[in-house]
Amino acid sequence: MKKTELAKGIYWVGAIDWLTRDFHGYSTNRGTTYNAYLIIDEKITLIDTVKEAYRSEMMHRIRNIIDPKKIDYIVVNHVELDHSGGLPGVVAEVQPEKLICSKMGHKALLQHFHQEDWPFHVVGTGDEVSIGQRTLSFIETRMLHWPDSMFCYVKEDALLFSNDAFGEHWATSERFDDEVDPGILTYETTKYYANIITLYSPQVKKLLAQVEEMQLPIKMIAPDHGVIWRKDPARITRDYQRWCNYETNGRALVIYDTMWESTQKMAKAVAEGLHAEGLEYTMFDLSVNHRSDVMTAALEASALVFGCPTLNNGMLPRMADYLYYMKGLRPAKKIVACFGSYGWSGEAVKHMNEMLNDLKLTICHPGVRVQYVPNHSHLRECVELGRTVAKSTQAFLAGETVDSVV
Ligand code: FEO
Repeated sequence: MKKTELAKGIYWVGAIDWLTRDFHGYSTNRGTTYNAYLIIDEKITLIDTVKEAYRSEMMHRIRNIIDPKKIDYIVVNHVELDHSGGLPGVVAEVQPEKLICSKMGHKALLQHFHQEDWPFHVVGTGDEVSIGQRTLSFIETRMLHWPDSMFCYVKEDALLFSNDAFGEHWATSERFDDEVDPGILTYETTKYYANIITLYSPQVKKLLAQVEEMQLPIKMIAPDHGVIWRKDPARITRDYQRWCNYETNGRALVIYDTMWESTQKMAKAVAEGLHAEGLEYTMFDLSVNHRSDVMTAALEASALVFGCPTLNNGMLPRMADYLYYMKGLRPAKKIVACFGSYGWSGEAVKHMNEMLNDLKLTICHPGVRVQYVPNHSHLRECVELGRTVAKSTQAFLAGETVDSVV
C-alpha cells in the first residue's frame, strides 16, 4: 500500500467513501473522504479518526506505517460522527495516553460515547502540547462546524489541520490540490461552503482575522474532507475571505417550479428582462436541480428571483423545501423578487416574500401574480420585474442603498 506523506513523518491515514450521496440533505455526488493523519514523533499522534464504517480502512493504513498500539496521543478536532464514529474502537485498540480535545469536545464526547474513563486532555486556544521534535498548538473554532471544533497547528512544519474547514466532499485517489482537476475542485469547495459553512460566515470572518493576527506561517492546510492544500493554501483562505464577506459575482438566478408551465413561461420572461438590462443569469428548475446545487450557485449570485405557482394555499413542495433549506443557511446581501401563477387563491408569492423578509434580503419588487395562464401583457409585467431586479442589483453593486418594497 502506497504511503501518503505530507511532510517528513506526517502521513494521511484516512478513508475514501466512494458511495455516499447525501450529507444531511446536501447531495454528495462525488462521494467524500474522511481524512485522518498520523505524526511519527516521540509521542506518536493520530489526528482525528473516521466514520465507524471506515475504521478498518484507516487502521489498515496506520498498520502499513506502524503498529497502532504505538500511538500515544489522539487529537479529536471535531466530534461529529464522520470524524469520531471510529473513535471508541480506536481507543479500545490503541489505549492512548492522551485524548486531546477542546472543552466543548470533552462535553460532546461524553454525550456521544459515555466513557468517563477515557484519558481526556482538554486544550483551549493558544495551548500547546509537545510531542517530541514537534509542538502542537490549538485554536478553538466554535461552530466551524460544531461548538467543539478546533484546529491543530504543527509549528515546525507550518501545517494546519483544519478539520471541516477548507474541505470539500470529493472521493479521489489523489490527495493533494495540485493533483486534481482545478475546475471540479473550485465547484466542490464552493458547494461545501455554500451548503455547510454559509450560516457560520460571521464566525469564519472572526477566525480568519484571528489567524491573521497570530501571523502563523502556513505552508499546508490539511482538512478532514477532500484534498490537502499544499500548492496554494492561500487560495482557499482567499475564497473563504470572499464568501464570509458575502461578496457576489454580479449574476442572477431564476429559481422556479411549475405546475402547468405558466410559471415557467413567466420565468423565461423575467430572464429576458434581466438580460435586457445586462444582468447575466442562470435558470434553475427545481424539478431537475438538487437544492444543494442551487444553493451552490446562490452563494455568489447577486440576485435571486423565485417563481412558484400556488398549491393548496401555499407553495409547491419543492420551492418550500428550497426556501426552508436556504433560510437555514442565512445567505445575505442579495437582491430578490418573486412571481408565480395561481388558480383561485394565489398565496405562493406572499409566502415566498415572507420567507425572504425573514432572511432580511432586499425585496426590490412586490411580485407578479398571474391567474392561470399568462397572456402577452402579463409576460411584459414579468419582463419589467426582471428589469427592476437587474437595475436594483446594479445599483446595489455600485454601493447605492436599495430598500425592500415589501
Ligand atoms: Fe465532517 Fe462536521 O463533520
